[in-house]
Amino acid sequence: MTIPVFLGLPLHIWGGILIFLLILLQVAGGMKFIKIPFIWHKRVALLIVFLGLLHAAAGMALWFGWTYIK
Ligand code: HEM
Repeated sequence: MTIPVFLGLPLHIWGGILIFLLILLQVAGGMKFIKIPFIWHKRVALLIVFLGLLHAAAGMALWFGWTYIK
């Protein structure tokens, strides 16, 4: 399985940007800078963990040469 490129960047890099934005949202919600229902604090936490695992798997697969960017 290869990693596709969208708008000039590999998919896992877009994923990393999304994870970064979700962490900012999570911290802003947790510290009550913005008002977010608590159920969303839990859902976004799960999403961050899930996307983070995929992001790490893509990074490791590239590092070890098990996949490449196409
Ligand atoms: C990526 C994961 C998460 C991040 C980055 C995060 C971040 C934060 C931050 C920065 C705060 C504010 C802490 C403070 O003001 O001292 C907070 C509050 C809190 N978080 Fe999270 N959190 C995450 C996941 C979770 C999960 C999984 C739970 C529980 C299922 C949870 C429960 C809470 C609770 C109960 C508070 C206190 C909220 C309040 O003061 O009403 N957090 N979180």
